[in-house]
Amino acid sequence: MRIYDIITKKKRGGELTADEIKFVVDGFTSGIIPDEHMSALLMAIWFRGMSSAETVSLTTAMLNSGESIDLSDIPGIKIDKHSTGGVGDKVSLVVVPIVAACGGIVAKMSGRGLGHTGGTIDKLESIPGFRTSLTRNEIIEQVKQHGLAITSPSSNLAPADKKIYALRDVTATVDSIPLIASSVMSKKLASGSNAIVLEVTVGNGAFMKNIEDAIKLADTMVRIGEAAGRRTTALITDMDTPLGYEVGNSNEIREAIDALKGKAPDDLNEVTRAIAAEMLYVSQKGSPDDCKRMVDNAIKDGSALQKFRDMVKAQGGDASVIDDARKLPQAKYHVAVPAKETAYLTSMNAEEIGLASMALGAGRAKQGDEIDLSAGITIMKKPGDFVKRGEPCAMLHANDTKKIQDAQLILRDTFKAADKPPKKSPMILARVEKDRIERF
Ligand code: URA
Repeated sequence: MRIYDIITKKKRGGELTADEIKFVVDGFTSGIIPDEHMSALLMAIWFRGMSSAETVSLTTAMLNSGESIDLSDIPGIKIDKHSTGGVGDKVSLVVVPIVAACGGIVAKMSGRGLGHTGGTIDKLESIPGFRTSLTRNEIIEQVKQHGLAITSPSSNLAPADKKIYALRDVTATVDSIPLIASSVMSKKLASGSNAIVLEVTVGNGAFMKNIEDAIKLADTMVRIGEAAGRRTTALITDMDTPLGYEVGNSNEIREAIDALKGKAPDDLNEVTRAIAAEMLYVSQKGSPDDCKRMVDNAIKDGSALQKFRDMVKAQGGDASVIDDARKLPQAKYHVAVPAKETAYLTSMNAEEIGLASMALGAGRAKQGDEIDLSAGITIMKKPGDFVKRGEPCAMLHANDTKKIQDAQLILRDTFKAADKPPKKSPMILARVEKDRIERF
């Protein structure tokens, strides 16, 4: 078998066999296939796509490139959740404690931020002392005791995905349905849970720019999960505007804690409530309506916040940040982004806000870059709000004035306004399960 022939076959629109895909994944992971060959193949896949059989073979080869976690020592249905990424996406930080408070069992492997999207692990590291690398035994003990853990995966969990993702990131091949589906599902299948809820984001801050592609991606992932014997469902959520008001790391932790105290902004509340209820539903905790009620109660009675506290303590973090957010990392400079005219805000480009947050130091341009946990953006006005010229639309937080100038440049056209407010649309756009697609 020769990689050159495999690239040529895909370039011409051919269907790769499972053996050819395994040859590529194993060869690239072990370093025998160089970046230039893999880049050419990824671009051919980007243009030509993959059949369902190819996507399943790619997922399987990536899953088998490393170890899988065995969670069978923990009794009950273990539920996992994954988002295809967004700006201001602190959903996992809110839903994992809610689900645990309602009797669900969550051993969640989360990632770091890359490009314009943030990562749950980076955000958690802004809590002083919080350990994000747990051993398998620590995960199992913590989940048995408290019902939840959020940790970064070991370096040997789907290592093919790490290498392929890093190359996709620099070859403009991230936004491909078979490549995203195999990347997400290889990690989720390796993480050992019995059930998976996927959040597929759509909009200018997401990899999927339109609802049809988002549904196709969700359906592809649901099929892969179900074929592997895991109950899998997906919700399609809006990512045209950042979720909530905070984008960054420590400021997103603050907003997530506020959400657990019952003070979530409407959009964050709608998404977290729906995803937490879906996770409970696939964990067989009750009907969809029962699950929604359980979620509301867990916020109201403080049990979700208590679960977050339990997790922070169990993972070595300073739980006093929950009562005093000033103990989280704080930036030195805070500079407003003023509105250009007096009008209704109609839209803001989530991707640009993510890029500006990265420029302030909150994200990394490439894997391994250091990030500034105190940097980020507070959005002060959302679409539908009336703003006066000069009034702040956002506040930039950073420790370096040059970085603030870079962010200001990125944001020069981000906030759009008009005479009339925009039509309000729902945050949950569709739900996908095996053989069923519901649009809202
Ligand atoms: N999230 C992933 O884990 N992989 C992708 O390819 C895109 C989003």
